[in-house]
Amino acid sequence: MRNKLVVGNWKMHGRLATNPGLLDAIRSGISTQTAKSAGVVVQVALCLPYPYLAQARQSLEGSSMAWGAQDVSEHDQGAWTGEVSGSMLADFCCRYVLVGHSERRSFFAETDAIVAAKFAAAQRAGLIPILCVGETLVEREAGVTHDVITRQLDAVLAVNGSAAFVRAVVAYEPVWAIGTGKTATPAQAQEVHAAIRGRLARESADLGNRLQILYGGSVKPSNVADIFSQPDIDGGLIGGASLVAVDFLAICAAA
Ligand code: PGA
Repeated sequence: MRNKLVVGNWKMHGRLATNPGLLDAIRSGISTQTAKSAGVVVQVALCLPYPYLAQARQSLEGSSMAWGAQDVSEHDQGAWTGEVSGSMLADFCCRYVLVGHSERRSFFAETDAIVAAKFAAAQRAGLIPILCVGETLVEREAGVTHDVITRQLDAVLAVNGSAAFVRAVVAYEPVWAIGTGKTATPAQAQEVHAAIRGRLARESADLGNRLQILYGGSVKPSNVADIFSQPDIDGGLIGGASLVAVDFLAICAAA
């Protein structure tokens, strides 16, 4: 059985003064849950804005939780003003980094090729990339969801090879469900998750079996049980609800 993973994506939220309260509430809630859930391994992580990684490390070090960033440069170092490298994230003991979030793809013009390069850069620095894929509403209505997801996966596979997915996570986030309050139905999500797993299983059955695939897009305590009950959904990537400790903890408890 695959382990579950729940990742909070704070996006551009948080303040120096208020972060410790939220981090400590989540940390202590998770440690209580961990004590109660013998057997099932649920990894919980938070992806924060860069300036707060030191705070995350300070609050979460020594706990079962991990932390990470929301983006990484495709370059390792040099004259790239404003960029943050994978090794800088490793300096703060990040375990994960999101790559190819739809907000990066659409608002910052990240192409499939850039996402593939960022995936590689993350792994060069020893980080676990969480590759985000997902279709827009127009694409879903045009019936090309599977083509879009396959194109996004294939771009990363072509550059990095299938072996790179042994130490990676995929997150399926339908763009039309992010921050909109609309969620894919459990059946819609399961269908795409199964297709993603099938694509990787074509490379190696073992890889397909082992790959953790998260669902993201308006996951909240009221809909999480149905989503997490699907066989190919191994956890969630949680935006808005990760900013409210009780909501995020309820989602982790469901996992
Ligand atoms: P949401 O965001 O949970 O607020 O919809 C998810 C995400 O963008 O990762």
